[in-house]
Amino acid sequence: MTGPRDGRDDAQRDAVERDDAAAGARRVPWIVGVSGASGTPYAASVLRGLLAADLPVDLVLSRAARLTLLDETGIAWRDGAGAWPAALAGWLGTSLAGVARPDRGTVTGQLDRLVRVHGAENLAAQPSSGSYPTRGMIVVPASTASIAGIALGLSKDLLQRAADVTLKEGRRLVVVPREMPFTGATLRHLLALHDAGAVVAAASPGFYAGAADAQALVDFVAGRVLDAAGVPNSLFRRWVGELGAARTDRPRPGTVDDTPHGERRIHGGRGENGEHGQNGEHRQNDANAGTVPRLGGPGD
Ligand SMILES: Cc1cc2nc3c(=O)[nH]c(=O)nc-3n(C[C@H](O)[C@H](O)[C@H](O)COP(=O)(O)O)c2cc1C
Repeated sequence: MTGPRDGRDDAQRDAVERDDAAAGARRVPWIVGVSGASGTPYAASVLRGLLAADLPVDLVLSRAARLTLLDETGIAWRDGAGAWPAALAGWLGTSLAGVARPDRGTVTGQLDRLVRVHGAENLAAQPSSGSYPTRGMIVVPASTASIAGIALGLSKDLLQRAADVTLKEGRRLVVVPREMPFTGATLRHLLALHDAGAVVAAASPGFYAGAADAQALVDFVAGRVLDAAGVPNSLFRRWVGELGAARTDRPRPGTVDDTPHGERRIHGGRGENGEHGQNGEHRQNDANAGTVPRLGGPGD
């Protein structure tokens, strides 16, 4: 299938292709589909993880995703070549708390080299065809509408068509639903996706990795999504086979450490690494105080 494939003009497209040729490798991207479910921070974290792994990305935002992005970040998304780079840099370069991230420059520098954006209405774009080589696709977050559309093969827009193509070509498809509770219909659609070979990886953070803030919980989900896709990442602290290790390893209040993205965090917040008593003194949790038994592991 041929046709307009992204929001870039010819000169920008030529520049990207020259870069690809200079790299001496055929560009084989991950497709990332962002649908209109709540959870745009999950998409941002997955995108940062892919860029950190130096992997090319073809990005498709559904029309509804523009509403959730606007609602959750204040960013007005447009697919045009003159608009999306700044919007994406702002989105990926800002933490969940709305603070500019220290790795902003690194992320921004990678966008032009690694990312292509396709309009969701552009069914002639490359990901519409199985002849366009890709590593697979991640739909994050996945709305119940996109889950239904992919499960039923509706291909109502490029996101759903690209997911359908990913399945029919036997490539890895990871779908990240956020909804709760689920209707019976959504559960049946998720089972259909599972049976068709997709990985259903719910946006369901684990609490064993010692997350001290909401961004760390988001990064946990994104890291497990990238695990499901087979993409190496260090977005979260992995289970080391020791109960409580994530809490005992946490920096003590008042210290500073670096996140997986190089973000500096100052510790000392309420609820971190123990509890604060009525007089403001810091109490270690019991499990931190003594020897921690080695028992089983978490389920995931
Ligand atoms: C602010 C906002 C939040 C939404 N959150 C969800 C959600 O968490 N899950 C969901 O399935 N739909 C959610 N929706 C509704 C979807 O956007 C809607 O079903 C839309 O048709 C999905 O289309 P898409 O799959 O093409 O992106 C939300 C809509 C808005 C405006």
